[in-house]
Amino acid sequence: MLTFDNIVVAIQGATILRRVTFRIDAGQTVALIGRNGAGKTTVLRTVMGLIGPAGGRLGFEGRDITAMRADQRPGLGIGYAPEDRRLFSAFTVEENIRLPAEVARRPKAEIADTLDRIYSMIPELKEMARRPAGQVSGGQGKIVALGRALMLGTKIILLDEPFQGLAPILAARYGETLKALKATRPDISVLITESNPSLLKPFADRTLIIERGDLSEIMNDEPLVA
Ligand SMILES: Nc1ncnc2c1ncn2[C@@H]1O[C@H](COP(=O)(O)OP(=O)(O)OP(=O)(O)O)[C@@H](O)[C@H]1O
Ligand SMILES: [Mg+2]
Repeated sequence: MLTFDNIVVAIQGATILRRVTFRIDAGQTVALIGRNGAGKTTVLRTVMGLIGPAGGRLGFEGRDITAMRADQRPGLGIGYAPEDRRLFSAFTVEENIRLPAEVARRPKAEIADTLDRIYSMIPELKEMARRPAGQVSGGQGKIVALGRALMLGTKIILLDEPFQGLAPILAARYGETLKALKATRPDISVLITESNPSLLKPFADRTLIIERGDLSEIMNDEPLVA
């Protein structure tokens, strides 16, 4: 459903992604593992159209979206939880979760329905719904960012290092939330980045490794390109 076909990204003359090629099928959870500066965030930003590739083709559900405007991409069903979360601290948790759908001018009834579904998948979000986002803990903030990604991410969600900086108990809780999400919505694909490969073992159907912009799939998994 998501395909990178020889994607090249260059920033200020430096090549950041080198002919990156992979495919994610519907419902798969794929781990993207790499050290600091390897290019993980760049892969996700390329999906969102926040960086334009210098070469290659980006496909989504059979469509070529390489040149599609960034503001049109969430509407395809792509949700994004950036590394730095970007929650608005003066807004409530619920307002933060609703925001992408409001920006996309989704109908009120649809927003209410989606919100209900997110609350049933992640009940702790309902408990904190009325609190200002500035008052939730770092671990809770990551779960808020996950909820927000699900607002428009009906086909795939991109999670950028959600475990980063979480104490072990909070990381375990986040992991349980992801497992609950996979159990209730097995149709949603997940692309999740991390620097430590062992953290994602329990969730990932496949593992991609990125090193200095070169991507490969680890052995004993599905073929890189089908
Ligand atoms: N806006 C930018 N300007 C210049 N260089 C950039 C920019 N964004 C990314 N880079 C460079 O691109 C490379 C890949 O960065 P990227 O943020 O994708 O890595 P990452 O794997 O997400 O790293 P981290 O684990 O630190 O989040 C790095 O060498 C980084 O310095
Ligand atoms: Mg990053």
